[in-house]
Amino acid sequence: QLLIIDFGSQVTKLIARRVRESGVYSEVHPYNRVDAKLLKSFNPKAIILSGGPSSVTGIGTPRADEAIWTLGVPVLGICYGQQTMCAQLGGSVEASNDQEFGRADLSIVKDSPLFAGLAKVGADERVWMSHGDRVSKMPEGFEIIAKSPNAPFAAIADESRDFYGLQFHPEVVHTRNGAMILRNFTHNIAGFKGDWTMSAFKDEMIVAIQKQVGEGKVICGLSGGVDSSVAAILIHEAIGDQLTCVYVDTGMMRKGESEQVTSLFRDHYDINLIHVDAGEEFLGLLEGVSDPEQKRKIIGGTFIDIFEREAKSIGGAKFLAQGTLYPDVIESVSFDGGPSVTIKSHHNVGGLPERMDLELVEPLRELFKDEVRALGRELGLHADFVERHPFPGPGLAIRCPGEITAERLNILRDADAIYLDQIRKHGLYNDIWQAFAVILPVKTVGVMGDGRTYDYVLALRAVTSTDGMTADYYPYTHEFLGETATRIINEVRGVNRVVYDVTSKPPGTIEWE
Ligand code: XMP
Repeated sequence: QLLIIDFGSQVTKLIARRVRESGVYSEVHPYNRVDAKLLKSFNPKAIILSGGPSSVTGIGTPRADEAIWTLGVPVLGICYGQQTMCAQLGGSVEASNDQEFGRADLSIVKDSPLFAGLAKVGADERVWMSHGDRVSKMPEGFEIIAKSPNAPFAAIADESRDFYGLQFHPEVVHTRNGAMILRNFTHNIAGFKGDWTMSAFKDEMIVAIQKQVGEGKVICGLSGGVDSSVAAILIHEAIGDQLTCVYVDTGMMRKGESEQVTSLFRDHYDINLIHVDAGEEFLGLLEGVSDPEQKRKIIGGTFIDIFEREAKSIGGAKFLAQGTLYPDVIESVSFDGGPSVTIKSHHNVGGLPERMDLELVEPLRELFKDEVRALGRELGLHADFVERHPFPGPGLAIRCPGEITAERLNILRDADAIYLDQIRKHGLYNDIWQAFAVILPVKTVGVMGDGRTYDYVLALRAVTSTDGMTADYYPYTHEFLGETATRIINEVRGVNRVVYDVTSKPPGTIEWE
């Protein structure tokens, strides 16, 4: 397996993704958790050092554990990774006036196994740069294999030790042959066969869960989304009845959600399931609250209270299972020296482990959404469930900007169901990452028949994405939008205007709160 040491780049996850796409299993670990002990237990066959926001020239900035240089395995440093590699091995790095952001043309100056199948010596490769600092002197044993106008050491190599350094980012799609460069590193240089599969991952995870949990009891919160469902089914396969799932109906679920979830788990999989009807409790606590972060915190806290109650009812559990994915980890955690800023307080059952002294079981922590779906298929989860759009933990609360009322929730639920029905009828569901309606806290004037109306505005959102980190709005036809708006206004009392949100992420987020 391959170890990716993370120095905090926003695109580190893409390295893991590209590597796994070529059939090599990899894990990402923050630089400050990689020490001799982890290296011994992980036993990497190769290492990639990610980019990062710090400057190698600054005092106390991140470094790779010195032990990696003497393991005898190939190392590839990317951007900050290249710079720290050079600084640590006796070269030097300088802050440069010629910063490079975006596209650059890379000239290959020497044949290298890293560039097999790419442009020949003398020809250019289109790559993507994002750096202020740059290497100014290579460590002993290294030579230049490619340069760019502002980076004389754009690619360097010490072939005797299989150490490589790139100033550009091969993991982003804008580097045209980036995937091939990474593949050359893993397959040609590090000798991976590329035979890692989701089925192998499943088997490994089952053994790992059994080992972690032993005879202990595990509780798992189910939201009805793909992630928690797949986590629960996988854990159930590993430990059977030691697992109890808790499904909390917050009163802010979509239409029919509770029935679908309980029937899948009870009837299909025969998994222990507690169904908690907590709508009144949640709505009572949210009364008068319109600040988005406050809503999220109240919902998160109430989840914890309910969970704690239910866990006691099963005679105590030692472990808490969560369907945390890799993008959740990177978006909500910032580690020492790391840049990841909290955009929203993502809700899972955070806070609970400390309060109840529970150990986390998070078998999907290393995976991306599409990989979780593949795992779901591997576990025999029905296609309707596997392909479901993501649904956030706080539910419709964050699709109801302003104060949440039962009246507005009911309107939203009905309108959302019609919207999704339209998408399914037109065969668009699987082309879209996520689609939902948002009810605005304003009323506008309309005319229906001969009368004046004064009702709510409903916004429709639909985006394409591969991991929820970036997204673009879905380009419906005008006919589809018109037909859907008409259906919603005709069939749902309380809405007299429908608008379509055409914002991408960034600058917008997918959800409105
Ligand atoms: P944003 O709105 O941050 O959403 O662009 C990205 C993806 O995350 C989902 N989301 C959440 N999922 N708990 C969740 O489980 C949350 O608190 C939460 N907030 C947003 C959102 O639906 C989208 O798929």
